[in-house]
Amino acid sequence: MALSLQKDKIRFLLLEGLHDNALKVLEDAGYHNIENISHALDKEELIEKIKDAHFIGIRSRTQLTRDVLEHANKLIGIGCFCIGTNQVDLDAARDLGIPVFNAPFSNTRSVAELVLAEAIMLYRGIPEKNATVHRGGWGKSATNSHEVRGKTIGIVGYGSIGSQLSVLAESFGMKVIYHDAVTKLPLGNAVQVGSLEELLSMADIVTLHVPDVPSTRYMMKAEQFAQMKEGSYFINAARGTCVEIDDLADALESGKILGAAIDVFPKEPKSADEEFESPLRKFDNVILTPHIGGSTQEAQANIGLEVADKFVRYSDQGDTATAVNFPEVSIPFKENSHRLLHIHKNVPGVLSQINRLFAEAGINILAQSLMTEGDVGYLVMDVDYNDSTAALDQLKDVEETIRVRILF
Ligand code: NAI
Repeated sequence: MALSLQKDKIRFLLLEGLHDNALKVLEDAGYHNIENISHALDKEELIEKIKDAHFIGIRSRTQLTRDVLEHANKLIGIGCFCIGTNQVDLDAARDLGIPVFNAPFSNTRSVAELVLAEAIMLYRGIPEKNATVHRGGWGKSATNSHEVRGKTIGIVGYGSIGSQLSVLAESFGMKVIYHDAVTKLPLGNAVQVGSLEELLSMADIVTLHVPDVPSTRYMMKAEQFAQMKEGSYFINAARGTCVEIDDLADALESGKILGAAIDVFPKEPKSADEEFESPLRKFDNVILTPHIGGSTQEAQANIGLEVADKFVRYSDQGDTATAVNFPEVSIPFKENSHRLLHIHKNVPGVLSQINRLFAEAGINILAQSLMTEGDVGYLVMDVDYNDSTAALDQLKDVEETIRVRILF
């Protein structure tokens, strides 16, 4: 149980050299109790440090496993200052009443720009020309060298990145068609086609922007490459598991596909010391990049803003909108009220029990919102500021309580 903490008592542990924007957002919001460490900690150090932290900000190297989190008795929130959240045991965090935030949109534009640049490079045959000149050759020729203007780009997955790319591609004079699992509002003059097969048969260049879900796993294999136009191009900056790489290599070998740009692979090296193995390495007409589609300074800066802002909203208002593992509640603060945040086991009857206890104690609820996810329920309630201490006392009697916090 915790009463509202003074801002200077709320301790932030930031690891792995987060962007300065993260600190700025926290400091501007009045949080100055920040330990900012430029690297990841080993497990023992992490356990020692996390014991005192209310919030922890990490990137991809810090493993927040259940046993680490079980030492984090004061922890209120986790921020992954990146896109992925695999490094955190999300279920364990939820069981312990800790929401996890990330930054899913911060690098959208970076990926879209790279893909458009790759489309242009592929259409000019730059990858193989660049390789030839590096080896001392001089392949000056306009064969298979085209502008992208007037070509049809087929976008598979018209979400954040796909739709952003659609706008950029049109501004270069490309025709945009797309296929998505659901009906999506077309931007500009883009046209949604009925099926992946239809898109593959119409597009001059195909690019994947789908998530890694069962329906996208190996969605591009020999059968789909065969459906593509003769002499077309292929780009994947989505997930490595979407493409059967051996089948892509066969399509490149046969000349069916004239070139490709691949940023993500079914098996990626864990560090720079491990060799990258792929049947695509031998092709000069394939741009290979080490999963850097979203890795730009601008994306890092945006990530710093986005996740730190989510920390502030959760700390100040109990707002869990966009949390990846936790019930999402976001309601405006009522004037002259105190806010109670009640995290509890998701079993029937908790809300009615709380409402009955409050009614018996004569506490009027000014606003109330409950959401559940998995085994956890999250209830946000605003009560008159004169009633908040009594309300907190009532909540202490609710057996299913995991955590309760009061904000004023
Ligand atoms: P998003 O969730 O905004 O969009 C994905 C779209 O794919 C949605 O519109 C969804 O309806 C659609 N979709 C889902 N299943 C489909 C199916 N079977 N067939 C057709 N469409 C389907 O995702 P966002 O942010 O645009 O990211 C797209 C991909 O890009 C993700 O896989 C993400 O991991 C990857 N990514 C890669 C980066 C890199 O560094 N290369 C950086 C950022 C994201």
